[in-house]
Amino acid sequence: MFRSVRGMKDLYGRESDKFDFILSNFRRIGERYGFGMIYTPLLEYTEVFHRSIGDETDVVSKEMYTFLDKGEESVTLRPEGTAGVIRSIVCEHMDQCLPVKLMYCGEMFRYDRPQKGRFRQFRQFGIEYVGDKSPYTDAITIAIAADCVRSIGLFDFKISLNSLGDDESRENYTKAIVKYFSRHEERLSEESRARLKKNPLRILDSKNKQDIEICSMAPILLDYLSKESRVYFNRVCSLLEDYSINYEVNNFLVRGLDYYSHTAFEILPTSGSYREALGGGGRYDKLLSVFGGQDASGIGFAIGIDRLMLLMDDFFVQNERRKVAVVPVSEDENPIAFSIFRDLQHCGITSEFIHLGNLAKKMKIADRLGCDIAIILGENEIQSQNATIKFMNTRETTNKTKIIRISDIVNFLRSK
Ligand code: HAM
Repeated sequence: MFRSVRGMKDLYGRESDKFDFILSNFRRIGERYGFGMIYTPLLEYTEVFHRSIGDETDVVSKEMYTFLDKGEESVTLRPEGTAGVIRSIVCEHMDQCLPVKLMYCGEMFRYDRPQKGRFRQFRQFGIEYVGDKSPYTDAITIAIAADCVRSIGLFDFKISLNSLGDDESRENYTKAIVKYFSRHEERLSEESRARLKKNPLRILDSKNKQDIEICSMAPILLDYLSKESRVYFNRVCSLLEDYSINYEVNNFLVRGLDYYSHTAFEILPTSGSYREALGGGGRYDKLLSVFGGQDASGIGFAIGIDRLMLLMDDFFVQNERRKVAVVPVSEDENPIAFSIFRDLQHCGITSEFIHLGNLAKKMKIADRLGCDIAIILGENEIQSQNATIKFMNTRETTNKTKIIRISDIVNFLRSK
């Protein structure tokens, strides 16, 4: 028996219904705010991610699916969407005419340890809003993320917010935490000790228990923000308050990717046992120039669709469209049943033609396929130009069947 690759799952039935429901809601919200879809390749040259996400991040140093293609070029299955979208904006010269507002959805790949809500292949919906640097744009972007989560019926979440400031703020802050962590170096995990030399900010992202304890007493970034960065951040906060978007400042939120400056945020569930981030994003000042584009800033976020699907388990109701089964009693009635089925399809009525097995088996199949009305066509009915309509899945015990003229079927179903 073949199984799917570890950490990669098949989506079908209720799961694919959930996925479609989420995506159609998110796309509608993105369109409402003026975003257009972009589809970038799943594979990019490895350098695209090294340059943008940063060599010292877990994503780049441990989690990428990287291999040499037949032309000996190093390529990588995208671990996130932003790098490819920005690469495309520059390659396609979209940055000649700013702002650019794009949304995307698709598969991402990270070689991580699979666990609840963490997969090796997972799906993100994201937006990138490039070339319009202002606290308003930051507030709008966070508002879109909140609107998306709310649109699928999830209300118990909060926005965790921080500012990573400009280059000057981060330089000063880095000096301060290097000094602090050096004092505690021997108690830090091996990984964090290595990061102290290469990328000290990443220590704040550590999942090691002892590291977390040391981090809790570390200097905070907000105290090192330049005047300009502080004014910018305060403005974003006050706009979020005006928008009535629930947020909480988290001084240690640094995000797992190196391209951020200024605003950084995550969406966290506030009820139930699952508390990992549902989404995250932030502003990036240098990403376009990394790819040789304009000196323009952008902001965006990505939401992990698989994690939302997990939380929706309790309340998601499958597609409530009416579905009609056209059921010939025997093979003799197949031609007329098939032509009725075709009529229903032409009229846009969701329907199934069920013609295999005896009548009991056909009704069982209709039930399994989720049909709630069956049109049963037997010899006697057809002779009198009638069909029997059977209402399935109904709690009513009377009026479960009805005889109707074949010529009236479409009108009858339309009125239902
Ligand atoms: P990220 O925080 O790395 O940000 O990922 C965004 C979301 O993707 C996470 O909050 C989580 O819900 C989901 N996610 C990440 N890894 C996994 C996994 N292994 N399994 C399931 N879900 C996962 C980014 O990717 C940035 N590109 C967001 C962004 C856009 N920043 C600016 N623009």
